[in-house]
Amino acid sequence: MRIIILGGRGQLGRELARVLGDQHDVLVLDLPECDITRRAEIDRVASHSPDLLIHCAAMTDVDGCARDPQAAFRANALGTHNAALAAQRANAGLLYISTNEVFDGTKDAPYFEWDTPHAINPYGASKLAGEKYVQMLLKRFYIVRTAWLYAAGRQNFITRVIARAKEQSALAYVDDEIGNPTYVPDLARAIGELIETDHFGIYHLVGEGVASRYDWAARILQLAGLRHISLARAKLAEFKRASTPPRNGALANFVAAHTLGIKLRNWEEALDEYFTALT
Ligand SMILES: NC(=O)c1ccc[n+]([C@@H]2O[C@H](COP(=O)([O-])OP(=O)(O)OC[C@H]3O[C@@H](n4cnc5c(N)ncnc54)[C@H](OP(=O)(O)O)[C@@H]3O)[C@@H](O)[C@H]2O)c1
Repeated sequence: MRIIILGGRGQLGRELARVLGDQHDVLVLDLPECDITRRAEIDRVASHSPDLLIHCAAMTDVDGCARDPQAAFRANALGTHNAALAAQRANAGLLYISTNEVFDGTKDAPYFEWDTPHAINPYGASKLAGEKYVQMLLKRFYIVRTAWLYAAGRQNFITRVIARAKEQSALAYVDDEIGNPTYVPDLARAIGELIETDHFGIYHLVGEGVASRYDWAARILQLAGLRHISLARAKLAEFKRASTPPRNGALANFVAAHTLGIKLRNWEEALDEYFTALT
């Protein structure tokens, strides 16, 4: 397949290009040469005759989106509108990467693919608007919702926990925000399997199992050899943030697991590998 990855130099895009590059003809596009908010730039995508667009480009700074919702909607909603039109013109399929933040977090169990989204912050609302454009404009699409991504060589929750532990002997993380830590190489492999199926639809691809920020930080400190750091439990209400995260941001991978046998491994196992790969 000829595949174009939009946002292809970001955390996920880079890994997708590596994983898919062996079997497919992959073209990476990103800022500055292809800004998805600029019609003239994204329209040129069709001239490469892609079979599939993988759309990872997004404004991902969740607090930044809350401070500037118009910028969030321009990139995540209108940019996705442009990407869907480009796929339509090229007669290509589209795989749109979406987020657990399309849900409001009030459910007391992980969200299934058919649960009704209701975003509670501008990042989630702008990504959800993107999902609607994809569904309105295209027949051949995958929407892949994922959560709490991390990869080696990037700033992420893990690098921030370790940096804080080197400056302070006592840390606190919230135990009332839960999600699925998801290792980017595992997600990229799962997406590689999904695009071979032509089984279009909405998928939740996340590391198996759920964790709170506190659980995740505790495991990170253990694996980083920082067990001596004291870790306390905190609550979301104690922190003032521009954006309100869903308390329960956990997703259940039901559809890919049960119809296609596509699953990511348990988040703790994947975290072990992340640390092993660093040494
Ligand atoms: N990170 C997570 O925990 C997480 C969780 C759930 C879902 N997701 C979704 O997963 C996807 C990939 O996330 P990621 O972690 O790989 O994010 P990332 O590292 O921030 O990558 C996004 C890429 O898109 C580019 N971009 C931003 N605005 C653009 C525009 N207007 N036109 C073209 N490219 C643009 C960024 O360029 P610059 O770096 O130059 O801005 C960056 O290279 C996103 O759709 C995100 O919403 C992420």
